[in-house]
Amino acid sequence: MIRRSAHEPGTRKTSRPHDRLNHSNGATDMKQMKVRLNRDNAIGDTDPRLFGAFVEHLGRCVYGGLFEPGHPTATPQGFRGDVLALVRELAPTIMRYPGGNFVSGYNWEDGVGPVEKRPVRMDLAWLSRDPNTFGTNEFVDWCRLANIEPMLAVNLGTRGPDDARRMVEYCNHPSGTELSDLRRSHGWDDPHEVRFWCLGNEMDGPWQMGSKTATEYGRIATEAAKVMRLTDPRIVLAAAGSSGRNMPTFGQWEEEVLDHTFDHVEFISLHTYLNDYAGDTPAFLASPDLMDGFIEEVVAIVDAVATRKGSSKRVMLSFDEWNVWYRTRRGATRTLPGWPVAPPILEEVYTMKDALAFGGACISLLNHADRVRTACLAQLVNAIAPIMTETGGRAWRQTIFHPFADFSNLGRGTVLAAEVDSPTYDATYFDPRGATALHFPMPEVPYLKVAAVDAGATLTLFLLNRSLDEDASVEIDTGGFGSLSVVRATTLRDDDLEAANTKDAPDRIAPVPLDGVEVSGGVRVTLPPASWNVVQLRATRRQ
Ligand code: AHR
Repeated sequence: MIRRSAHEPGTRKTSRPHDRLNHSNGATDMKQMKVRLNRDNAIGDTDPRLFGAFVEHLGRCVYGGLFEPGHPTATPQGFRGDVLALVRELAPTIMRYPGGNFVSGYNWEDGVGPVEKRPVRMDLAWLSRDPNTFGTNEFVDWCRLANIEPMLAVNLGTRGPDDARRMVEYCNHPSGTELSDLRRSHGWDDPHEVRFWCLGNEMDGPWQMGSKTATEYGRIATEAAKVMRLTDPRIVLAAAGSSGRNMPTFGQWEEEVLDHTFDHVEFISLHTYLNDYAGDTPAFLASPDLMDGFIEEVVAIVDAVATRKGSSKRVMLSFDEWNVWYRTRRGATRTLPGWPVAPPILEEVYTMKDALAFGGACISLLNHADRVRTACLAQLVNAIAPIMTETGGRAWRQTIFHPFADFSNLGRGTVLAAEVDSPTYDATYFDPRGATALHFPMPEVPYLKVAAVDAGATLTLFLLNRSLDEDASVEIDTGGFGSLSVVRATTLRDDDLEAANTKDAPDRIAPVPLDGVEVSGGVRVTLPPASWNVVQLRATRRQ
């Protein structure tokens, strides 16, 4: 577990490699690394919900993102066809909606019924105007078109249990009651069958509308859960955990919230946004390892609560907001004056370096597949997103699109415990969020970060080389797999770590073949410096 400590701002240490090799004649040095896998030593099976994402009424995520009537590619309902095509390629499995901070001031009723009667509202989360021309029914329809499971959050900020249970009735009850018949009168005869519900969002955060103490939230979440489940016993519920590992109440919050909600929820949520505010690339690339620590800490807390309650129940983790986010996180890019509709806010342009840290986060999630059963990349389109659009124009893939598509398309199966032998470096990660600026010392960060997924017929290796200047020569002992052959091997890299994809150069950063994967006995592969790599192997027989 990685320890956490607060230092005075300004005393930042820069990251220091342990074993920097000399460069001679411009040649790239090579780090030697080993990975040991054993087919019988598994962490767990990935849940399909691990590969989710998030759509919030925020900036141009909905309006001008996935919904734009009048766009040349729009479906009859106004969904952008070009975005849908990219979403299908990205392959998220579940989609959280409608927030985020937005949900804590949202009236779900505003977004249903005849569009011309829907109110235009002030959105106090993002200081925008919401025309409400897209709401729950449109969202569920969009999910069905994209073959994605909808996940809904209820407002436990400005509203409470009664509105939450009414929303469940509207969405999930077949017919014969006021709200189910209201849905039918709106044109949706069949119930939406939404299974996964979030009990509010980031309720510990002072920025949240209707934020609460752990006691206040624990009580209201319990009461909301009770009436929601009475309305539809098939739903699963997630309590809101801390909005970040660096919140001053992290730990106490989880303990007290679960003390109240333990019998009523299946999940507790985690949120993390990785940053490079400090401009320290090695520390930034190390930062996904803090997600490993965060997950393990939350597991310890929730299981301690179970022990105290004498229960063998295992509350699972819903990592329902994760991404890289820092350039547009503060100040002028967060909101715009004048209560605009769909302002271009939080439109983070992701670089090669960001894609590497992001890939590291995918590996962290895979390697905790036993307890992280749900996760949502925040978000999907335009606002801190893998897909960017021009309103009225083109759509393209950001750098982070590629590791996510690899993760989702190839990460399904049994995650094996990978024993990694790698040279390491020391880093100190800076995180300014929360009451105090925090510096996380990260000693002995392995240059190589790995996940291995056994899907029966295939073994897929996800390999992040965090060395900025050296190749990694990796020897993988694939115990129990018998003979293997390469199905595909790709690498994502660029000499310029600040390079990004733009509308005019949408494929500047894209995966290319990774040459030279050798398969005989085990697997041997050479990874370029600062690269995200995926090697998919066909497993011909079980040994
Ligand atoms: O994803 C952007 C915002 O980040 C969400 O609205 C909020 O939950 C988090 O703080």
